[in-house]
Amino acid sequence: MRRVSDRAEAFTDSVIRRMTRISDEYGAINLSQGFPDFDPPREILDALEKVVYAGPHQYSITFGAKNLRDALARKHEKTVGRQVDPETEVLVTCGSTEAMICAMMSICNPGDKVMVFSPFYENYGADAILAGAEPIYIPLVPPDYGFDIRLVEQGFREGAKAIIICNPSNPCGKVFLQEELEAIGALAVAYDAFVVTDEVYEYLVYPPYTHTCMASLPGMYEHTITCNSLSKTYSITGWRLGYLIGPAEIVEAAKKIHDFLTVGAAAPLQEAAVTALQLPDSYYEELRALYTRKREYMLTGLDRIGLKHNIPQGTYFVLVDIREFLELPQFAGYTDLEFCEWMIREIGVAAVPGSSFFHEEVNHLIRLHFARSEDTLREALKRLEKLAALIR
Ligand SMILES: Cc1ncc(COP(=O)(O)O)c(C=O)c1O
Repeated sequence: MRRVSDRAEAFTDSVIRRMTRISDEYGAINLSQGFPDFDPPREILDALEKVVYAGPHQYSITFGAKNLRDALARKHEKTVGRQVDPETEVLVTCGSTEAMICAMMSICNPGDKVMVFSPFYENYGADAILAGAEPIYIPLVPPDYGFDIRLVEQGFREGAKAIIICNPSNPCGKVFLQEELEAIGALAVAYDAFVVTDEVYEYLVYPPYTHTCMASLPGMYEHTITCNSLSKTYSITGWRLGYLIGPAEIVEAAKKIHDFLTVGAAAPLQEAAVTALQLPDSYYEELRALYTRKREYMLTGLDRIGLKHNIPQGTYFVLVDIREFLELPQFAGYTDLEFCEWMIREIGVAAVPGSSFFHEEVNHLIRLHFARSEDTLREALKRLEKLAALIR
């Protein structure tokens, strides 16, 4: 008898997280899994310190501490321009990761189709399998990662229950234009389907691009399940705090799934996180300015050493083209994964192989992130110069 379920065998562990483990093993600079190497805002740390002795230390209400749900509802109200009920429309989860799987499990029956843009954040593949859904991939076409809306319509026509939109997109850095979202939204309404959005990088958008929240578009609130997170916005990826906001009927379903999956997110961290949501608007402007500088530093650094890359419109990721390396005799037959493993060992920089984000056969891209201090990025670029020298 096979001891492991078909479901568990249908996907591999996360390549992103695997690269972090290999990176740690070799003491490389980890530009693979996206998380910052700098501290969260002081206000949040002070709040956490207070919580240590004042509590809470027991379970919060399973769908999220009331004060955090209230704060999240107020935040979302400002974005979507309508009232959001913290009792029925907000669910606090263990990161956007859990929000996404709860969203998928709330709306999908086994065999339901769900559209996913490719490249995609690798979790969505596993989310679809765990929810029993069958993905229909819609290519995002470089260099701007545009897409053919006719394929989206075709997907809905074939019965897709939902479309997943990562906006801004990991790994390609695409920021969906309002017109693109309106076109997708109109189809979702016409076919009475859902849009599941993953908006964890909502503040990491670089001029001239701006982030549009799908749920804020006319008629879209009832058709959108917004998944989001405190991880990236407040540099607290280890706190595992995210949320899902949407129509009450869906959130009620997601609450049940969440309850039996995790019972709830960590109560003391939820309490401290309320402070994060009270930070002034200037915090978000400074965050954007900080990442704009890091992006500039990274992209000009890559240009200087001669590595070809895309220009991310948002997020803190950049895709580097490794085609020229793979043409060298020493890398003959290498997959992008093998190339990344070699890079960790020989160059001392960890990246994620692009193939883990694509449905199509793609072997020529690797993803680096720049959520690192300038000193670390300088050292990483110095090491990458050794790599670039191979193709000069
Ligand atoms: C697009 C996207 N969604 C979700 C996550 C995970 O977010 P969380 O830490 O809230 O689970 C990540 C992390 O890299 C991500 O890139």
